[in-house]
Order: sequence, then C-alpha cells, then structure tokens
Amino acid sequence: MLPEFRTFKGIACTQMSLREKINLNNLPSHIAIIMDGNGRWAQEKGEDRLYGHLHGVESVRNIVEGAAELGVKYLTLYAFSTENWDRPEYEVTGLMELLVDTIKKEVPTLNKNNIKLHVIGDIEMLPENARHELAEALAETSTNTGLNLIMALSYSSRWELVNAVKNIAAEVQQGSIAPEDITQQTLQQHLSTSQFPDPELMIRTSGEYRISNFLLYQLAYAELYFTNTRWPDFRKENLYEAILDFQHRERRFGKTGEQVKA
Ligand code: IPE
Ligand code: IPE
Ligand code: MG
Repeated sequence: MLPEFRTFKGIACTQMSLREKINLNNLPSHIAIIMDGNGRWAQEKGEDRLYGHLHGVESVRNIVEGAAELGVKYLTLYAFSTENWDRPEYEVTGLMELLVDTIKKEVPTLNKNNIKLHVIGDIEMLPENARHELAEALAETSTNTGLNLIMALSYSSRWELVNAVKNIAAEVQQGSIAPEDITQQTLQQHLSTSQFPDPELMIRTSGEYRISNFLLYQLAYAELYFTNTRWPDFRKENLYEAILDFQHRERRFGKTGEQVKA
C-alpha cells in the first residue's frame, strides 16, 4: 500500500484518506446495518460462535464512534432478530448475557459522546435483567442530542408490520380514524421507527445478499451496500468506504436521470 501524506506544516496532502474524501454535506442522515458474520468469523478461527459475538461488540463500539464523529444523525444496528430466538439455547443465553453486560458498560461512553439510545423490537421477549438494563440505559441517555443509536433487538419487520396493522385496526374500531383516512403517513406513524427518518444507506456485512426481515417498509428507497467483510472485522475505514460508495450513487426515486440532474 502507498504511504499516506497528511497536511504537515502547511504542506498539502498528496493522498487523501478515505475519511477526507467523504463529502460531509451529503452524508446519509440514517445508516442501518445488518451486523452479520460473527459466528463464521469465530468458526474460521476454530473458536466458538460466542467468541465472534464478543468481538462483534468491539466493532459496534468502533462504528458508533465513527458515525458520531462524522455527524451521522441516526444509526440503526440489527443486533438480534425475532428469528434468532430459534438458535441453540446456549447461543441465545450467551448473546443475552453479552447484551446486558455491554449496555451496562457502555452508558458512560454514550453520555460522553452525547449519544441517545433507542430500542426497536419485541422487548417483552427479552429476559427481565436485559429489559431492566435497557430501560436504565434509555433513561440515562434520553437527554442526549447527538447521534441517535437505534438498537434493533428481538426485532423483525413482519412483527412490526403486524403490530402496526393491529393498532390501526383498534383505532378504526374505536372510531378515532376512518378506513378511508388511512395513508402512508398513518402506517409510518404506527411503526416502531415512527420517530426516525427512513434509512438512506443499508449495509450488510459478511457476504449475504438478503434483508432478513429488517426494516422492509423503511428500506423502500435505501441504497444497499454489501461487503464480504465479517462484522467483527468491520471498522471505521469500512464504514467510510460504504459512505463513499453511497455518495457516488444517483438516487432517482422513480424519476429519470435527466430529471434528477436538472
Ligand atoms: C450476526 O452474526 C449476529 C447475530 C445474528 C446475533 P451471526 O451470528 O449471524 O453470524 P453468522 O452469520 O452465523 O456467521
Ligand atoms: C440477521 O442475521 C439478523 C442480525 C444480524 C441480527 P441472520 O444471520 O440471523 O440472518 P440469516 O439467517 O442469515 O438470514
Ligand atoms: Mg448470520
């Protein structure tokens, strides 16, 4: 690899770092990540899958910090899906312990970096101690005004959509909304992401090209970015690469390229 030359005593850089190439005026305001590949990463090293999850936490720290430094407003991390409950019991238990432990330890760092934590998903499914730690972390970071960190835990999009439909149906039954008044906005307001704008960039690590029940409605016009890098190896530089790729896309929203350029 060529050496990088940074500004030194007023002498201009001859090679820009990835971070310097990012146009800060065209940052995706919401990045969503499917953090995949922990298990394979560990197994490839002859280790237990939980070893991969443990190292995945290091990537979470690094990426949260990287997103906050850039000034990204919303970062959603898919940490555990509704379907992941069907994994072997030891893995589920290990993941839950890791979750409780991490949340507890990370709150001071979140506060130091002005990061507000949010959770989306079927939280009732989580063990009592995890719910307790989560509730405390949410309360303790609730007045922060920087990055909004949204953890998708025990989350699935179909679960979320069914819930939304149930709640809208109940409102119709109570007479607070008429069926003909239901709009896209009504549906949006009943999703667990109602407070957040739709993701503009969705990243999935580890070489799988699928959505796995993640934000099906919200990703309607997201730019999708797939990388073979396993989640425990994913670092700020990888995030910068994804953002740069995003910045080279032409987002047309159904229009023609000519219309968009005009
Ligand atoms: C992602 O890594 C973390 C969770 C789903 C909890 P995986 O555990 O899915 O790792 P792979 O995909 O099996 O390698
Ligand atoms: C998606 O990964 C869920 C999370 C990253 C939390 P999975 O590993 O569960 O997805 P599939 O089973 O490969 O589709
Ligand atoms: Mg996986």
